[in-house]
Amino acid sequence: MINWDEFEHIHVIKKLKLILSSWWNIDVIFTDERGHIRGFKDTAIVNPAVQAFLNKEANREGLSEEVGKAITEMQNSETRFALTKWSQAGFDMAVFPILIDGEFMGTVVGVGFIKDTAEANRIEEVKDRLASQGENRDTIDFAVSKIRFLDDNDRAHFIDLVDLVSREIVTLHLEITNREDRIRELNKELGSRYKYDNMIGKSQAMQSTYALLDKIKGADSTVLIQGENGTGKELIAKSIHYNSVRSSKPFVIQNCSAFNDNLLESELFGHAKGSFTGAHKDKKGLFEIADKGTFFLDEIGDTSPQMQVKLLRVLQEGTFTPVGALDARKVDVRVIAATNRNLREMVEKGTFREDLFYRLNVINLRVPPLRERKEDIPLLSEFFIDLACKRAGISKRILTKRALEKLYDYHWPGNVRELQNEMERIVVLSGEETKITADMLSPKIIEGGQKTKVQGTRVVGKLKDAIEELERDMIKEGLRRTGWNKSKLAKELGISRAGLIMKVEKYDLDKRRLRKS
Ligand SMILES: Nc1ncnc2c1ncn2[C@@H]1O[C@H](COP(=O)(O)OP(=O)(O)OP(=O)(O)O)[C@@H](O)[C@H]1O
Ligand SMILES: [Mg+2]
Repeated sequence: MINWDEFEHIHVIKKLKLILSSWWNIDVIFTDERGHIRGFKDTAIVNPAVQAFLNKEANREGLSEEVGKAITEMQNSETRFALTKWSQAGFDMAVFPILIDGEFMGTVVGVGFIKDTAEANRIEEVKDRLASQGENRDTIDFAVSKIRFLDDNDRAHFIDLVDLVSREIVTLHLEITNREDRIRELNKELGSRYKYDNMIGKSQAMQSTYALLDKIKGADSTVLIQGENGTGKELIAKSIHYNSVRSSKPFVIQNCSAFNDNLLESELFGHAKGSFTGAHKDKKGLFEIADKGTFFLDEIGDTSPQMQVKLLRVLQEGTFTPVGALDARKVDVRVIAATNRNLREMVEKGTFREDLFYRLNVINLRVPPLRERKEDIPLLSEFFIDLACKRAGISKRILTKRALEKLYDYHWPGNVRELQNEMERIVVLSGEETKITADMLSPKIIEGGQKTKVQGTRVVGKLKDAIEELERDMIKEGLRRTGWNKSKLAKELGISRAGLIMKVEKYDLDKRRLRKS
């Protein structure tokens, strides 16, 4: 099913509509396969004559009927488009089919012009129609002053442009359905899980994580978790602990970058009374508290060389000495360490001890950034929205498809945490609205997706320049979208591969050059 509201937001379509309206005051309307107007907002209409007629329901029905006839005609004659008169209005419209897999899904209608400069006298008919609708003189004069007569050249350009709109819709629709199919496919995959303890995600990457977590359930080895900020390292560490034989014993967390060395040492290993000013009594270190349990050393990459030696000793011998104490203590602690830094690289550079690295890296778990598992975005965002709604005691909120697309297009430098924050923010902002639409998202997310897309349209100057600019933008965006698959893009654009290559050269859209810019 086509979602008509979507197309109003597509940049290329917006741009095409802008060209059609700024050159010829032509409006673009979408209809379904029976000719019924869809996704229509009368505020978007630019031509006052079109507006005056569309205001009346009887006229809209008349237009639908006319489009319906054009559809039948096109189905029978296999013509690419139909130029026909909107009889209630007296001016013309061009009807282009939206054909998906050979099936009529709807039409794109360009309306508000008279098809030939030789038919200038037809303007009188339009005046009569407006008058019989009860419009006053001024309105009539103003409205008809906006109607353009197309010469052969204009008509050819106009037809190409509306044709482009209809093809762009087909491309877009296919893209969306392919993506949906892919997501559905992924969900169906045998044995795929979408949840593991408190972790959500059904991407391949998360499936591998779950499989590894299952495998290490019985093990008692040290685990090193590596991943960017906000990818869920702590969540994984907890899951490891609560699925292990140590689950009934303490799970202790220490962030190794939070303190200076002295404080960290006293925090980890404890201190003896009187060992420094303020040490009024013996204090147990976290390693002792974690005895028989699990110790999660977060941000392990931030520890100093001195601290690294001490940690190595606990890992190797299970012993440590509290600050100011005389003898060593023994503990039985399983260590899970995490970092967002590249420890192997640090080892090479000499900033992280190699022996400690190998002690920690017995089992290695890499958590992929969210942008490498975008399939998880729908599930995660729904999960976080539901959570936030429950917490706020409000009814369920739903993301529109367009909003979800925006979430897909964004690169999520802050990973799952950033997505969670965004969803919480948006639930608060949604107020009474049960639908969460794209425009409610943070500007960085709305813009983030558009960066690769085209911006702005020239509305003065020569039509040829504007069309070339549009062509260049469409090819540039298409190349990015298809991963420089020229055959695929040429097919989409309805031109030959050789033709596309020529245009790529003409517009200087060479891959290497674009990458640089
Ligand atoms: N797969 C997931 N499913 C559900 N929630 C998740 C998932 N991954 C992360 N989160 C949530 O995102 C937030 C960040 O996760 P977490 O603190 O575990 O990340 P982290 O890798 O330790 O981050 P940092 O490096 O910044 O410490 C938490 O609120 C967590 O509950
Ligand atoms: Mg963390």
